[in-house]
Amino acid sequence: MSLRGSRRRLLRIGASAIGVFFVLFLFTAYQLPLAHQRQQPLLEPQSEFQSSSEPQQPATDKQPGAEIENAPVSALDLPPEYTEVKEPPPACADRFGTSYITKLRDSATEYCTLESSGGLTCFHSKTSSSRVDSFCFARGALFNQDERVFSLGCGLRDLDGLGVPKYKEFTNYWYDTGPGHTLDKAVRLEDNTSSIIVPESIPSYTLLLKREGANNIWHSLMEIFSMTLTLDVLRMTQHPDEPLPFFTNYDIENTQVLVLDDLEEGPYFDLWSLFADKPTLRINDPALPFLNTSFENLIVPLNGGGNPLWQGDWEIHTCDDSPLLRTFSHRVLNHFDFVPDTPREQPPEIILTFINRTSTRHLINVEEYLEHLQSEVPHIKIQSIDFAAISFVEQLAVAQETDVLVGVHGAGLTHGMFLPHHSAMVEILPPDLNHKGFRNVAALLDHSYFSAHASKAGTEDKPEKRGDWHEDDVFIEKDKFMDIMNVAIKSMYNRGSRNYDV
Ligand SMILES: *[C@@H]1O[C@H](CO)[C@@H](O)[C@H](O)[C@H]1NC(C)=O
Ligand SMILES: *[C@@H]1O[C@H](CO)[C@@H](O)[C@H](O)[C@H]1NC(C)=O
Ligand SMILES: *[C@@H]1O[C@H](CO)[C@@H](O)[C@H](O)[C@H]1NC(C)=O
Repeated sequence: MSLRGSRRRLLRIGASAIGVFFVLFLFTAYQLPLAHQRQQPLLEPQSEFQSSSEPQQPATDKQPGAEIENAPVSALDLPPEYTEVKEPPPACADRFGTSYITKLRDSATEYCTLESSGGLTCFHSKTSSSRVDSFCFARGALFNQDERVFSLGCGLRDLDGLGVPKYKEFTNYWYDTGPGHTLDKAVRLEDNTSSIIVPESIPSYTLLLKREGANNIWHSLMEIFSMTLTLDVLRMTQHPDEPLPFFTNYDIENTQVLVLDDLEEGPYFDLWSLFADKPTLRINDPALPFLNTSFENLIVPLNGGGNPLWQGDWEIHTCDDSPLLRTFSHRVLNHFDFVPDTPREQPPEIILTFINRTSTRHLINVEEYLEHLQSEVPHIKIQSIDFAAISFVEQLAVAQETDVLVGVHGAGLTHGMFLPHHSAMVEILPPDLNHKGFRNVAALLDHSYFSAHASKAGTEDKPEKRGDWHEDDVFIEKDKFMDIMNVAIKSMYNRGSRNYDV
């Protein structure tokens, strides 16, 4: 069939002949020429990150001294003052930069004994002090059609002293998600050390998907972001028995998503197939088509709650760049045929988009405030949009033409991820709520960010309903509203081709 499949097969035959042990060693020897051969057709994640316009070099584990010794004598480096200022703080690169995925790659740990018919490689990261985040890749799994479960021939190795979580001890996350729950639900380890699995000539890949929910944009995008990071790491990690990474772009056509939860699809479902060309299946579908019993490769992705973007939401971090987040944002936009970060034709008016929350946390009097704003502040066009009432693609189209995104604290502000470069975000926070999540996102994407807290008391006609910020309507004085809007709007007066006096 495809070139890709036959190439993998040839490599696989070669690899199994040599034997697992030797390959591990030989591999370093012929990794270079092979990697070189592949360079043209493959779009490795690293090149994607490099192509994004970020001047900073991600931190590497190389000793600075080693590079200087190997540098050709004729090479003229930047004066050292330049390289010194550009170095991002390691704590930022490890969470938001490419060193997050290179460190994950380097954490690859095999969980099954060498004699096992299958394999399970897990990857771990510790960006939060309170937990270890993991994802796994299983090889040689067999699908049991009747029980709807995969069996994996894997005798567990002794991992003592390696400092990694044991099988069954992976971090669990809310809504019964995470690699532990996913493996529990869909994979059964069998200690088959003698049986031999003859791999399919064209390997298939199945992404096991157990979601937190289907409709909250922040939750869903964090999960999907985590899935893309998982695939990035797999595309960078050496397969133990084959001279290829665990996953390449050629494997996308042989990849399917298998949904383990019973949730509805929701608006973001399509994005789960960013790396899977085969139709998405549901394990509980009574009409689940007869699956070939050998699925071979299972991808158990990093959890949404384990995403490095989603931690420390209540604290300010001072990181101001994220190649990971920018790449994710571009992937989503590209998927829906937007061309992000191209110089756009700016209309003369600054476009202000107010996120109209219609269920909870309604901003009291906002209709009047927006009218007033439109009449008071020149060079603006205001639109009020109920994001919940339009499709995700339409939401993205709105975000892509927005200069100033305004909303009461809530998931709608996730659209800050999809604003054009150098936009502005305004967050009106319920009284006493000091959430910093959207501020942090804005900082990582170089947007200006402005916040104001609403007043404590409800108004007379709309008293506080329950004293719960999730539910209560939000009131802010008109003057305060006008002040923050003025600052945000005028921060855009000389951005791009706009040229207005304040
Ligand atoms: C393990 O062995 C049992 C019994 O021989 C067999 O039914 C099962 O399919 C094997 N599982 C794997 C993953 O090889
Ligand atoms: C099962 O394998 C056959 C031959 O490799 C292939 O034609 C068929 O599409 C596969 N079925 C599924 C559901 O993947
Ligand atoms: C928000 O949406 C509701 C329901 O569609 C509408 O009644 C209200 O006028 C809208 N508010 C704004 C500020 O657009």
